Amino acid sequence: MNIKKRLIVSNTITIVIPFVLTIIAAFLFIFAASTVFNKDVSYDNFKKFILIKTELSHTSSAIWKQNSEDIEDSKFQKYLYQKLSNIDGDLIILKNNIVVFASKDINKIDIEKCLLEAESKSQKKQVIIGTKAYMVEVATLRFKDEALGHAILLAPILDYSNTFEKFIIFTLVVFIMTFIGVNMFMSYLLSKRIIKPLSLLKTAVGEISKGDLELEIIEVGDKEIVELCADFEKMRIQLKDSIRLKKKYDDNRTMLVSSISHDLKTPITSIKGYVKGVLDGVANTPEKVERYLKTVYSKAEQMDVMIDDLLLYSKLDLSQLPFNFEKTDIIDYFNYCINESSIELEKSNIKICLKNDLKGSKYVKIDRERLMRVILNIIDNARKYMDKEQGEITIMLRETNSSIIIEIRDNGCGIDENDVNKIFDRFYRADAARSEANGSGLGLAIAKQIVEGHKGTIWAVSHENNGTSILISFGKISEG
Ligand SMILES: Nc1ncnc2c1ncn2[C@@H]1O[C@H](COP(=O)(O)OP(=O)(O)OP(=O)(O)O)[C@@H](O)[C@H]1O
Ligand SMILES: [Mg+2]
Repeated sequence: MNIKKRLIVSNTITIVIPFVLTIIAAFLFIFAASTVFNKDVSYDNFKKFILIKTELSHTSSAIWKQNSEDIEDSKFQKYLYQKLSNIDGDLIILKNNIVVFASKDINKIDIEKCLLEAESKSQKKQVIIGTKAYMVEVATLRFKDEALGHAILLAPILDYSNTFEKFIIFTLVVFIMTFIGVNMFMSYLLSKRIIKPLSLLKTAVGEISKGDLELEIIEVGDKEIVELCADFEKMRIQLKDSIRLKKKYDDNRTMLVSSISHDLKTPITSIKGYVKGVLDGVANTPEKVERYLKTVYSKAEQMDVMIDDLLLYSKLDLSQLPFNFEKTDIIDYFNYCINESSIELEKSNIKICLKNDLKGSKYVKIDRERLMRVILNIIDNARKYMDKEQGEITIMLRETNSSIIIEIRDNGCGIDENDVNKIFDRFYRADAARSEANGSGLGLAIAKQIVEGHKGTIWAVSHENNGTSILISFGKISEG
């Protein structure tokens, strides 16, 4: 239920239920009064009772409203008397304690009783004159000649008046009590569905602001509150993710700095050694000097490549490099890759060939330049880690319903089965490769970033001593 609906329902119930209960209580009262206590509590009698009460108060207010100096006007006196005679009431006007108007025979003692009762603190204001009981109201008057006086208003008390008074008080009390009761109950329900979930949310948000992102925000309560909680929960998860990501970047940076400084240290140490050799005259022939300087140059170049790789890796890691995707015929593309690398491979006595199992031309969306870097790195690894007389690299193209799979297989030294998944980690190098200290160890980590940037997957399969396969899969796109 939404909050608006709940408020409407709750307010309606708060009004309707006390009314219904009061009506039921009123009926029960009337039933009990008429059957158990034998009181005549008919509607007509009730009307008469209300008429007496209202006429008495109207007459009294007519005196208040009228300038009391005009009270001597016989027309006004008649008007007042007429109002009271409608309810069998009487009017007595006193000026300086002398009766100037009386609609009924009344003696001095009764007048005094009326005045005393009116001044008394009793709520009932009742007097008995002769054998009849009256309600009495007294208005103080000041006449034109400054004389003081009183208007005594008398209205008959019916024998069922008390019952009606009790009835009115009873119904009022029942209404007020049920109103308070229902109100408290509805407020409790409202607080359970709105205030309680809000305070739970407040606690959770407080914890978030203190940096504790583990406290799950429970989605309870009305629709709007549930939506609010869901939004906060989403925010909490996003915040948690972004903190985790930030930590990952921080760890990355620390790892990069420590790894690169370690890997840069080796060429720098040899550069220092060779330069010192030249300066100290250890290289004492022009041939030796040339050899030393050539080594310094190649070490500096190696550092240059490492720094370039590092920059590329960190840019890819932070998703800062845009890709330029082009629809490409995969067979044409790999023929081109083979052409690019075959001459260099021939020098190392390695043959490279393409084995195409695709049915017809197949297209993929790739960044040709970036993917070239991936393929050349894989081919270069095959060359670097080749231990056979006659090296062989086969690029196999095949397809499934939804993807194109490229397998680049070599017959080199292979990778230990346990390390096969680690080779895509940055700076991972098998011990033998590390000792050669050739390359940055970022080649396959960069390849992974680039393939994943294509929404593709890259993995390796070890054939132990018979070589390695690196596999890449890309989603197919429609032909044409
Ligand atoms: N074809 C392969 N045969 C055997 N081992 C391989 C092969 N390809 C990769 N490896 C192993 O995986 C490691 C990581 O390869 P990667 O290309 O990332 O780094 P690298 O070749 O050492 O350096 P870089 O590519 O930066 O010059 C290598 O050091 C090597 O131990
Ligand atoms: Mg490599």
